[in-house]
Amino acid sequence: MDALVSLCKRRGFIFQSSEIYDGINGFWDYGPLGCELKRNIRDSWWRDVVQLREDVVGLDSSIIMNPRVWEASGHTAGFVDPMVDCRDCRKRFRADMLCEEQGLQLEKTDQGFRLPAGTVCTACKSKNLTEPRAFNLMFKTFIGPVEEDASVAYLRPETAQGIFVQFQNILAVSRQKVPFGIAQIGKAFRNEINPRNFTFRSREFEQMELEFFIKPGDDAQWHAYWVEQRMAWYNRIGLPPARLQQYVYPQSELAHYASACVDVMYEFPFGVQELEGIAARGNYDLSRHQEYSRKSMEYFNQETKERFIPHVIEPSAGVDRVALAVLCEAYREEWVPKGEGETLQAEFGKPPPAGYELRTVMRFAPAMAPIKVAVFPLVKNKPELVSKAREVFDMLRDVWPCFWDQTGAIGRRYRRQDEIGTPFGVTVDFDTLEDNTVTLRDRDTMRQIRLPINELLPRLAGAIRGSAPTAAE
Ligand code: GAP
Repeated sequence: MDALVSLCKRRGFIFQSSEIYDGINGFWDYGPLGCELKRNIRDSWWRDVVQLREDVVGLDSSIIMNPRVWEASGHTAGFVDPMVDCRDCRKRFRADMLCEEQGLQLEKTDQGFRLPAGTVCTACKSKNLTEPRAFNLMFKTFIGPVEEDASVAYLRPETAQGIFVQFQNILAVSRQKVPFGIAQIGKAFRNEINPRNFTFRSREFEQMELEFFIKPGDDAQWHAYWVEQRMAWYNRIGLPPARLQQYVYPQSELAHYASACVDVMYEFPFGVQELEGIAARGNYDLSRHQEYSRKSMEYFNQETKERFIPHVIEPSAGVDRVALAVLCEAYREEWVPKGEGETLQAEFGKPPPAGYELRTVMRFAPAMAPIKVAVFPLVKNKPELVSKAREVFDMLRDVWPCFWDQTGAIGRRYRRQDEIGTPFGVTVDFDTLEDNTVTLRDRDTMRQIRLPINELLPRLAGAIRGSAPTAAE
């Protein structure tokens, strides 16, 4: 993780927020490469969940909503984590995590929670801990110029409720019929007690949520369908099945209104952790909004004349967590031969064997790579050659984010691109001026082929979509 965090900062994926003022815990900024990576994740999710389907439409709802929304959803009363303080070193912990780290389990009581005997502060080992108390995770703010109870509002802790409260409007305008879905990508805010593991648990993050409305009774079948769809998407963006798991909630852990829930888990370097939850939530949310708003949330089926409040399947993923998983998956240290020979997996902390050098490479799936192609004029002091390379660069950047690099030895330029995960490099050399061909280098195999400039676009398009072998194979 340390090596990855350092690369993220050095190459401009992720910075600490407000770094020049010593940062602010739980908030992160995405640099030039990080914001391209997140854009690729969002675009891929949207394409999969909305664009390629006829039964899902999009929404972009506001972050601050009427506070009644959160009363209806249960967040005002129940969106809490148990918090404990160490009276000696004054560190604050999420009680369930503090217990978990010590192989213990937080005990539930009628009044709330109790720490099991033997729990200590992980920072100073003191046993002098407060009893756990409920802490609401919603960020409070005030609307208008007065800070009083009547003007309290919240930054949304999830995007989902914006979807539920617009259910009838969208139904009316979209000509959709149940089963159909509404999707949204946007920021969410939670005042997490212990932000941790780099961006994994942040206080400001982004969600990609789908509410798929179905006929009551069809829950099990649609839930299984969406689990399968979502797992396939993770594979397509480069997370291999071997590092993904499903956590199927036992009945005892399900919310009282839910009939099923599966978490998609990824094997991070700091443990197997959740990327997405896929829940069958019954009609809890729509019913609660009907009750609190006194507006009907019913759906009328014209053909069968049935009237019902739809049930919902909710796949809910975090952009930042998926980005972190994609970064972890891509990061490799390799020993590459200086001449002929096979690439070896580097052993951490050891120098490469004789005749080898270390290469750090981000093996992103091409569709996830922030920069798709780097263009290199072999030399920078031959105007004709540079201008030809510019032509190639302009042609490619019309389609993808591309990088222009004309400084340094060509080998060093390749390495710089390897480190940020650019899957393809195009070198324009003296032969290009004679025959209009270029060299195309593949990041993973480091193999190079020669091809005419007019074959670049179709070849790269196939490789970047993932529907063809990588370009230099
Ligand atoms: N509407 C359902 C919902 O919000 P959740 O399991 O609380 O469910 C869904 O959140 C996803 O949002 C998580 O699987 C995770 O990817 C992301 N997420 C939640 N809290 C987060 C945090 N503090 N930092 C980063 N991502 C978070």
